[in-house]
Amino acid sequence: MSKEYIHGYSHQEQQRLVKQAQYWREKLLLRDFKLSPSEYLLEIGCGVGAVLGIILESFPDLRVAGIDLESTQIECAHQYLHTLGFDNIDLRVGDASQLPWSDASFDHVYAIWFLEHVSNPNAILEEAYRVLKPGGRITITETDYKTHLIWPDSPDYQYLLQSYCEMFLYADGNPCIGRILGPLLTSVGFREVTNIPWGFYHFGSTESQDLQKWVEYIYSCIEPTLMEMTRKLGKDFQRLEAGLEFFRNLANQPECAAALTIYRASGKR
Ligand SMILES: C[S@@+](CC[C@H](N)C(=O)[O-])C[C@H]1O[C@@H](n2cnc3c(N)ncnc32)[C@H](O)[C@@H]1O
Repeated sequence: MSKEYIHGYSHQEQQRLVKQAQYWREKLLLRDFKLSPSEYLLEIGCGVGAVLGIILESFPDLRVAGIDLESTQIECAHQYLHTLGFDNIDLRVGDASQLPWSDASFDHVYAIWFLEHVSNPNAILEEAYRVLKPGGRITITETDYKTHLIWPDSPDYQYLLQSYCEMFLYADGNPCIGRILGPLLTSVGFREVTNIPWGFYHFGSTESQDLQKWVEYIYSCIEPTLMEMTRKLGKDFQRLEAGLEFFRNLANQPECAAALTIYRASGKR
């Protein structure tokens, strides 16, 4: 894993992952995502099982497995999936670049909000390829934080966004990994590779709270990392706070809007 995983493993972060999966449930996780009930799916970097829970609720007959480097995530995943009524799931603590399953075990490998945190995406994708059955598929969802645009804009907000991106780089991750998922999958041998950029855009409106919900979601991702940006990168805390406060009030500004590109990549073994 990256040397200092930027989100950490606090209880607050574990809850954030559950809320995040719920936020994206229809508009991203289940969008254009088809599985046949007999498939065996592995999520790499499964965290607290938040996304596995949504996949299982939608495809209850599916067999699933998950792996995460951090034991507290896997413990939490067992508990969380149990509360949803899913027990006896094969959840393991381990490194996705050395998967503890034999060749050709799975029909589907799934990853989301994961490769952005690793220094060795090629090694991880090679392992995903190895554990897939011939004809099996991989699905990866990642974003590109440099595409997060807002209006009105502010220099403090730009300082904050740049600092957030630098945190990924500091931890040996890649804040822009979404844009290279196509070449990454191709380079490890996947066929029929696609990488589709999906644009998410919200504007201020008296009829909809979508922009405000967007602001709250992005805020919940960035806010816990503020102190670390100062500690590790030497960033100006007051400027970071000013940028975050500006962003938090975005939906109250005239002619306000926000946009982000998220990539859904897919390939066949
Ligand atoms: C942002 S969380 C995403 C979790 C989950 N995919 C979700 O969307 O809720 C990223 C997870 O990747 C895990 N991770 C990082 N590097 C890993 C590695 N090399 N192998 C397995 N898990 C890893 C972290 O421990 C963390 O739980």
